[in-house]
Amino acid sequence: MKRCSEYKKAIYSLDPWQVRETEFDIETNYRDETIFAVGNGYIGMRGNLEEGYTGPENTTFNATYINGFYEEYDIRYPEDGYGFARKGQAMVNVADGKIIKPVIDGEELDLLKGRIHFYERILDMKKGIVERKVTWESPKGRIVEIHIKKLTSFTRPHLAVISFRIKPVNFDGRLEFISRVNGKIFNNVEYGKDFRVGSGIRGRVLKTVERAVDDTVGFIKQKTERSGLSLVCAVDHDITPKKGCFISTAEQEDMIEIKIAVNARRGTCYTLFKYISYFTSRDYQEYDLENLAIKEVTGAKVDGMSIIEEEQEKFLDGFWEDADIIVEGDPVSQQGIRFCMFSLLQSTGRDGKTSIAAKGLTGAGYEGHYFWDSEIYVLPFFVYTRHEIARNLLLYRYRLLDAARGRARELGHRGALFPWRTIDGPECSAYFPAGTAQYHIDADIAFAIKVYEEATEDMEFLYKYGAEILFETARFWADLGAYIPSKGNRFCINCVTGPDEYTALVDNNAYTNYMAKVNMEYAVEVAGMMKRERPGDYEQLVEKIGLKQEEIRAWQKAAEDMYLPYSDELKIIPQDDSFLHRKRIDIDQIPEDQFPLLLHWHYLNIYRHQICKQPDVLLLMMLLRKRFTVEEIKRNYDYYEPITTHDSSLSPSVFSILACDIGYERDAYDYFIQTVRMDLDDYNGNVKHGIHAANMGGAWNAVIYGFAGMKPDSESLNFCPHLPEKWHGLSFKVRYKNRKILVELKRDSAKFTLLEGDSIKLHYFNEEILLMQGLTVTKEVKNVKV
Ligand code: BGC
Repeated sequence: MKRCSEYKKAIYSLDPWQVRETEFDIETNYRDETIFAVGNGYIGMRGNLEEGYTGPENTTFNATYINGFYEEYDIRYPEDGYGFARKGQAMVNVADGKIIKPVIDGEELDLLKGRIHFYERILDMKKGIVERKVTWESPKGRIVEIHIKKLTSFTRPHLAVISFRIKPVNFDGRLEFISRVNGKIFNNVEYGKDFRVGSGIRGRVLKTVERAVDDTVGFIKQKTERSGLSLVCAVDHDITPKKGCFISTAEQEDMIEIKIAVNARRGTCYTLFKYISYFTSRDYQEYDLENLAIKEVTGAKVDGMSIIEEEQEKFLDGFWEDADIIVEGDPVSQQGIRFCMFSLLQSTGRDGKTSIAAKGLTGAGYEGHYFWDSEIYVLPFFVYTRHEIARNLLLYRYRLLDAARGRARELGHRGALFPWRTIDGPECSAYFPAGTAQYHIDADIAFAIKVYEEATEDMEFLYKYGAEILFETARFWADLGAYIPSKGNRFCINCVTGPDEYTALVDNNAYTNYMAKVNMEYAVEVAGMMKRERPGDYEQLVEKIGLKQEEIRAWQKAAEDMYLPYSDELKIIPQDDSFLHRKRIDIDQIPEDQFPLLLHWHYLNIYRHQICKQPDVLLLMMLLRKRFTVEEIKRNYDYYEPITTHDSSLSPSVFSILACDIGYERDAYDYFIQTVRMDLDDYNGNVKHGIHAANMGGAWNAVIYGFAGMKPDSESLNFCPHLPEKWHGLSFKVRYKNRKILVELKRDSAKFTLLEGDSIKLHYFNEEILLMQGLTVTKEVKNVKV
């Protein structure tokens, strides 16, 4: 999509802590299912109606995901090639445990029939619950008041709970709750319309291998055919009032059913509690899954919904205490930024075995793969708020280091090459020009380790895990690049693709060269530090990976001699060696319906033009801002902004941040709104396929790195705020080097308070300020000229 100069009207009502819809509409149902999804980093459930949906097929997608649970398939190429990715992995839809179908005196609850007198659905980001309140009149005139609550527990990762309350308003009669676990579930219904939701997996994937049901408890066990993974979904139920309830069960090939019936009286509330758990063989022994899953739900039932709700709220109190951002004067931004942060929490793996998929746990777009999105876009949010989650994201990469070494070997290189997209290790990108060729993923991971280490000083992590990744990636760069005589014997990295996927297989992509340089420099630095501080561990690691001292010298030299493209004529950084020699396109001349170009133009046609899907040089400037002057950023911004289509959702946040730096206030805010409201207002028209997780990380980056102007480095944090005109105030906390710092910004002042930890020096527009515990330092806003 092109840059939007007009903001979209908010789809859901504006509220600082809630997302609320007040109408049920089949036209928007598919989209709303994404927005009202619940997740806890492990389980993700789209916001499908618990009672089922009888609308047209293309207005819904029913799905439940388990982070990292995938099926494997062969990627086939009629025109094959050496080293092409062979094994695809795709996150699959698992047994649907969220079904509760009420039958009201013989009539099934169905919002598409009868009349809806009242409807409201709320995602409450403080409580971590989605609630739905409906007053429904059946075709035969029976009126019921319904109140449903659903959550996936942040404190019990394997657990989801639904409470379903029904009150007969104008009748006495039989009320049945039919609760099911359905193993007959499908993947990828929409294949073919948008390549980005395409997958090697379609239709039914999981086989139900076992099932049982007894009284209120039941389970289904499913297996993948190829990846060898199993899962168990177990359920248990409770009802209030219990008196007079009649329980019956049923089984079908792929389904278990528990029916609870009661003779209901008008004015009385009947509530069914359904406890649902998922356990998989990725985490536990297969033979244990059933026991564990049943134990989880029966235990949860003993505790009861209200205790689980309390735990949820308590967890979120802690989360918001660290992570919240308060924006004064702009409800659109306030709601948007909280939704982004909350969605990231819902979708990010916290177990060191999983990461965050491009669409989180809300849709199977991009096959549930993890990309560089996690390290470059999402990780900073967690580094400065909940660093243990950031640590786990990095541990996930460490787990895949062996696979990355194998991939480097396969491609004829030393060191390690991380896959462009994967779930559990192998390169899953079938289109290598915009896949494997994005070697920058190695440097992105190394950069994330640096960001993490500088902010947390977690040397334990650095020496135990980070260093090995840094050395193997540095090794990879040293092997991939070469000293090229026609380039003044500079160290060049040829035939790569940078972040901008509308330009591929080029020499000396600036982003890649700069980031590889940082990767190697940092590896050299860490090697030196580790040798001094942990000689024993260092020697062990050197032995483990066969590292030679001359290799470290070679990294140093390659970093020093790195070819860093520069155009003397334009005084900008060319994206790569050939970029400036291509035809520049005026994107305003391209008809609106041609965007995103990748769905309408052949790649060759895109590649031969100066046109960018997303920032490349500009992203580099954003990440390494200290290396560039404001004038340099401005010149590059002016050059690349008009040729960027923002066809990638990873684009607008970066423009917002840089626009802040160079004083382009209007751009900064426009791009921010496009970022922070991307999913809530469906800017790209595809939120039905799932959230844009990287962009949500980008929203946090845009507030903190952009408007608050936080510039971190190894020594300190420097704040150079530029609040948008609309904002009266912005406050947030950052965790930094074992301190917790409260930052309160107004348009004319800035306050910094050290809430936890020892005194520390920060910077405000480069001026040093000393923060001491409990004390607040107030500064007048500088009138910065850019
Ligand atoms: C972007 C990539 C991104 C991927 C997954 C693509 O459209 O160009 O940079 O990693 O989406 O979000």
